[in-house]
Amino acid sequence: MQTDFLVIGSGIAGLTYALKVAQEFPDLSITILTKTQSDETNTKYAQGGIAGVMDVEQDSFNKHIEDTLIAGDGLCNKAIVEIVVKEGVNRIEELIAWGAQFDKDPDGDYQLGKEGGHSESRILHHKDVTGKEMERTLLEAIRKCSNIKLISHCFVLDIITQHHLGYLVTKSTPDIECYGVYILNLASNKIEKITAKITMLAAGGNGQIYRTTTNPAIATGDGVAMVYRAKGRIENMEFIQFHPTALFEAGVRGQSFLITEAVRGDGGILRNQNGEAFMERYDHRKDLAPRDIVARAIDNEMKINGTEYVYLDCRHMDQHKFHEHFPNIQAKCMSIGIDVSRDMIPVSPAAHYSCGGIKTDEWGRTSIKHLYASGECASTGLHGANRLASNSLLEAMVFSHRSFLSSIAEIVNLKFQNDIPDWNAAGTTAPQEMILITQSLKELKLLMSDYVGIVRNNERLHRANKRLDLLHEETETLYQRTVVSPQLCELRNMITVAYLVVKSAELRKESRGLHFNTDYPKASDILQSTIL
Ligand code: FAD
Ligand code: SIN
Repeated sequence: MQTDFLVIGSGIAGLTYALKVAQEFPDLSITILTKTQSDETNTKYAQGGIAGVMDVEQDSFNKHIEDTLIAGDGLCNKAIVEIVVKEGVNRIEELIAWGAQFDKDPDGDYQLGKEGGHSESRILHHKDVTGKEMERTLLEAIRKCSNIKLISHCFVLDIITQHHLGYLVTKSTPDIECYGVYILNLASNKIEKITAKITMLAAGGNGQIYRTTTNPAIATGDGVAMVYRAKGRIENMEFIQFHPTALFEAGVRGQSFLITEAVRGDGGILRNQNGEAFMERYDHRKDLAPRDIVARAIDNEMKINGTEYVYLDCRHMDQHKFHEHFPNIQAKCMSIGIDVSRDMIPVSPAAHYSCGGIKTDEWGRTSIKHLYASGECASTGLHGANRLASNSLLEAMVFSHRSFLSSIAEIVNLKFQNDIPDWNAAGTTAPQEMILITQSLKELKLLMSDYVGIVRNNERLHRANKRLDLLHEETETLYQRTVVSPQLCELRNMITVAYLVVKSAELRKESRGLHFNTDYPKASDILQSTIL
């Protein structure tokens, strides 16, 4: 199969990019690949909303820029922060023009929410299901474009470069090029190749490398792992953001339900087992301090009290307003017997967002030619050591737009690479035992949660590294001899991503932002990215 533009991922980053190129070039072909259902993405689960300077009387670009820089703890690229904040408003307006509905006051003004680290109310939202509204809007717009083909249940295995043509490709090879991808078509169970002039990688995050995460099952870091295998540049992987308030439900693993930070923005208060509003002991911004600070404070309270959760108290809040803004959260809590007007909500931190990823420039270009990256799998320089809440949907739209601008100029002179060999499956046989995969996955999640979580130290990182070595060796052996499956490939990708997180964490000899190492308790003046 050949396609002019190939888009991997059907979240906000992939869909925005596809829509723009399709509208610009009605005669060119665009193919979107997604590994499960088309709307099963991190995007769909976004709750709080999208940050943007919409109220120019109260808010300003400078304030949003400053808040982003403060959260990023010295590692943001200031020029990129300015681009995202200033261009973001136009991107939000495009989304509204495509049909996205954001909540308004009775007098027609947008209701702007507040979240941790924001000095002003600037979060546009659609109740507490903002991401679902964005997916709906974008998928509807995509369906109207006759030159876009969206293929679901299609697992991308690897990007194709000169390596597949038989050339030696290393990290120092100057002009690595992307010619398309190999896929496992889950409908036919066949491995196929898709050649493309331009490939956009919008494959999302990696929360699934941890035992407890707000991310759905698709978030296994495939994009980062593929680019790393292809010898592309990856950076800042140690900065994994833990959301402070995932709903604690005994026995629930995999994907935890999020209690949006906007609840604290509307007045929700964190309390420990003794009922104490503990955040004032940790930061003057209390419950609305940046996420790294709140998550570490909760972690500390849980350790002091020997508990698995703290509480989010919403009992004093206006219950009518709570119902209006957070109907989904209220219904979820009620479904497990928690009436938010009478009961406090048990919450604990969960892996939520990967700040690092595939290194891109200001046009979304990766270090591999004709390969762009946008959204959570990319590292643009916006987030630095810690992402400001609700900045990621904005970042995805801004860089998908910039990638679109860059790629429309680039595609004019590009030709398909026609010499790509078929996938080589020689010597592989059907898997005998799934336990070899499922047990390794359990071990991986456990070691990442226990050794590479909110608080780290050198000994834990060292141990994590050693255990990952063994998992890597066993999984590579299995991969060499087994017919590929999504489960095996995801495990392999997650081991690679976990290795990148640990390696970057070991390289950073300081505590900064989301990376807190008790052997280096204070932020130093190192101030540079970890590039792998
Ligand atoms: P995704 O939306 O995750 O899409 C990834 C796509 O890649 C999927 O279609 C997937 O199938 C595909 N894919 C991955 N690997 C493969 C493969 N091997 N083969 C084929 N396809 C593949 N951010 C905010 O700014 N505001 C919020 O309020 C907010 N709330 C959040 C709440 C939750 C619960 C979560 C989990 C995240 C939240 N975030 C929020 C973060 C934000 O939602 C994500 O960072 C963003 O949606 C990522 O978009 P994306 O397009 O990069 O990736
Ligand atoms: C939330 O709604 O709390 C999540 C916001 C985000 O991750 O940006």
